[in-house]
Amino acid sequence: MKIFLDTASLKEIAEGAALGVVDGITTNPSLLAKEAGDPEQILREICGLIDGPISAEVVATDAPGMIAEGRHWASLHRNIVVKCPCTLEGLKATRALTSEGHRVNMTLIFSPTQALLAAKAGARFVSPFVGRLDDIATPGMEVVRDIVQIFDNYEFECEVLAASLRHPMHVVEAAKMGAHIGTMPYGVLAGLLKHPLTDIGLKRFLDDWEKAKKEMATRAAR
Ligand code: E4P
Repeated sequence: MKIFLDTASLKEIAEGAALGVVDGITTNPSLLAKEAGDPEQILREICGLIDGPISAEVVATDAPGMIAEGRHWASLHRNIVVKCPCTLEGLKATRALTSEGHRVNMTLIFSPTQALLAAKAGARFVSPFVGRLDDIATPGMEVVRDIVQIFDNYEFECEVLAASLRHPMHVVEAAKMGAHIGTMPYGVLAGLLKHPLTDIGLKRFLDDWEKAKKEMATRAAR
């Protein structure tokens, strides 16, 4: 499964890039609004940090507006993927943008039928929001599982980008469901590596090593 960071923070993205496991970035208007600075400049800088798909979302709600914004985002860098919302206008924009050769990530997906239409409109990625479904007592991961099965049945090239992943178990489940990509905040990525037995084991190795060095030094001094 490819790992994307769901953030517009250049600091977090630089830290993620240094780990060598980040394959791409998803941003959205809320994430960009949290950062100081010009969103366009931030997106350019993100493209300089990660060599992979970088999602930039349109904010127009009509197809012509989305197409114009999408073309603009795509002109910033070859790695930009235009994020369009899963609406009727978003579908029209997706068809138009993909016909021009731009990649589209259809976002705000909450059902398999939305994903099916997105793939048929030419989207390269669909983003089912797992956490937001869980928030309303609906099993988000079941939507991921259904989309993966439908795309497999018909060999769609569209990748399932499990989004709104809020904790490490979401990542494990998305991987078990066969999601092609999981996008997550930096804190969740860091949490994937954490294990108390690793910390305890490392401490024991280092303590034993120090003890052995002291014993060797004492023997040598005799
Ligand atoms: C995905 O592209 C979205 O930016 C994101 O995953 C939404 O996550 P949230 O529901 O935690 O805001």
